[in-house]
Amino acid sequence: MYVCICKAVSDQEIRDAVANGADDLATIQAHLGAATNCGTCIEHAQQVIDEALAQQLSHAV
Ligand code: FES
Repeated sequence: MYVCICKAVSDQEIRDAVANGADDLATIQAHLGAATNCGTCIEHAQQVIDEALAQQLSHAV
């Protein structure tokens, strides 16, 4: 599912980026371009990042 329509970035791409070390919105913006145009996806993008980070932590325990 697309999180960022402007830049055609999916939740899976964001999750993959988080898995590869992108652990905040600024890094996701720099690497994928997500949330760098109209800005309406920022909250959703942050939510996907937070979920992915939480998932990583639960797997690390
Ligand atoms: S939908 Fe992501 S910047 Fe517009």
